[in-house]
This record gives sequence, C-alpha cells and structure tokens, in this order.
Amino acid sequence: MATITHQTGKQILRYTRPERLVHWIGASSVLLLLLSGLVLLWAPLGALAAGGYSRLVHRLGALLFMAAPILYAVLNRGHLKRLLIEPFRYDRDDLRWLMCAPRYFFGFAKSMPPQGRINAGQKLHHAGTFISFMAVTLSGFALWFGKANLGAEGMAVAAIIHDISMLAITVLMIGHVYFTLVYGALPAMTTGYVSEEYARLEHAKWLAEVNAQRSGTTEAEKVAEPAAPPEIEPAIGQTPAESVKGHN
Ligand code: HEM
Repeated sequence: MATITHQTGKQILRYTRPERLVHWIGASSVLLLLLSGLVLLWAPLGALAAGGYSRLVHRLGALLFMAAPILYAVLNRGHLKRLLIEPFRYDRDDLRWLMCAPRYFFGFAKSMPPQGRINAGQKLHHAGTFISFMAVTLSGFALWFGKANLGAEGMAVAAIIHDISMLAITVLMIGHVYFTLVYGALPAMTTGYVSEEYARLEHAKWLAEVNAQRSGTTEAEKVAEPAAPPEIEPAIGQTPAESVKGHN
C-alpha cells in the first residue's frame, strides 16, 4: 500500500498557528505521560523510577495535558467549541462513510462519500479522545489527591480507570498516526496548509464551504477594497476560508 502525497495546486489553510501549537503541546504531553507512566507501571523498568523523577515527570506531563484545552480556550474558543461539538454529530454521509471505512483503512479514499471539515473516522477519534481525556484526568486527580479519602478499594478502581483510559488514548493515537501517514496529512499540522487536491479527496464538503465563503469574501472585497492582498497566515480566530494561497 503506497503512501498518498499531495504537493501541487492551490494550498488551503486547515489549521492556524495557535491550533497547531496546542495540538503539538497536547501530543507531546501524551507521549511524556505514556513514557513516564510505563516506567511507573511496568516492573522491568522499575529501576528508572528510583528517586521519584518519573513520578515528577508524570505529574508535569499531566499539567501540560490539562493545560492544552485551557490554552485552546484562550487562543481560539470558537475552534475548541467546534472541536467538542463536531465529533458527536453524524449525518447520512458520515454513516455511509463509516460503512466504507474498511476500504479507507487500506488507503482507498477515492469514491468515499463526501466529508465535511473532519471525516467520520476523525469524528470517532476525537470523540474517543475527549471521553478518554475526561476519564484519565478525573481518575488521575483521584490518584494524586484521593489517598486520604478514597481508601484502598477506591484507589484501586481509580487506577484501573486510569490505565484503561490511557490505553484507549494510546490505541486511538496509533490509529491517528497511521491515517496521518497513509494519507500524507502531516503538512496540515506542520505548515497548516493542505493542497486543494487533498481537500477535494478527503473533505469535499468542507472544500465547497471554503470556496463558497472565499468567493463571498472576494465579492465583498471587490466592492469595498479592490486591491486588498490575500492573507497568508490568519490572525487568531480567523477561519480557514479566509486564507487560501496559490502554490505551484
Ligand atoms: C506524533 C503524534 C501525532 C501526529 C503525527 C498527529 C498528526 C495530526 C494531524 C496531521 C492532524 C490534522 C488532521 C486533519 O487534517 O484534520 C491532527 C489533528 C488532530 N490530532 Fe493529532 N497527531 C499526533 C498526536 C495526537 C495525539 C496524541 C492526540 C490526542 C490525544 C491528537 C489529537 C488530535 C486532534 C484532536 C486533532 C484535531 C485538531 C483540531 O481540530 O484542532 N493527536 N493530528
């Protein structure tokens, strides 16, 4: 199965700089939590836990993990809201897409039902990540501060919830990275831009929205300010539709 690459044509802004920053802070915190958590949990790595450093690193990772959505709320509340709502809304095309998901898994995106800003698979990923995030955070707080009140049984239950939800985040992350690589999606989260060809293949309904908004803006610009140059990197809160750039 070949990895799909998209390099030519018009480039469309998908994620702004603050959105990318928060994503990579969140992703780094998950890796930090996983590595330090493994040291705490897995006996053969027990020697690395000596001195309490891995516990400290784990708690710092947890603070970073919780800081990510707070930072998102500060930098771009609108996008955070959309990120929390979209994963729980599925239309007919999403359901049809999920029926064809096995084909998509093996890299065949052509003739899949058209998708919006995020596809139905991403919706499931984001919903699963959100639920696991809540479970791992609440159980983590219980493990951190609950010793005095929860008793041995309560702490054991918190530990089981914590481990299962972190396992879920790990499985979701592996799937997420797999699809990122298969569909050549990394530039969306590094440069912020995707090619029009990629957007048409993966998010046809979103592309139509971007183009409609863009042409609406262009018409308005023509009336108000004919010579306005196009923005390359939008300001915080600006929508992708507001930034499309040509690229050869
Ligand atoms: C090295 C690891 C990772 C890579 C390479 C990666 C890559 C990406 C890419 C390319 C996108 C954009 C996809 C698109 O076009 O919509 C994305 C979005 C996203 N990723 Fe990751 N990711 C990683 C780790 C994670 C982790 C650990 C999480 C959460 C636990 C996560 C959660 C998300 C979410 C929620 C989005 C949507 C972001 C938004 O709409 O603001 N990612 N990721």
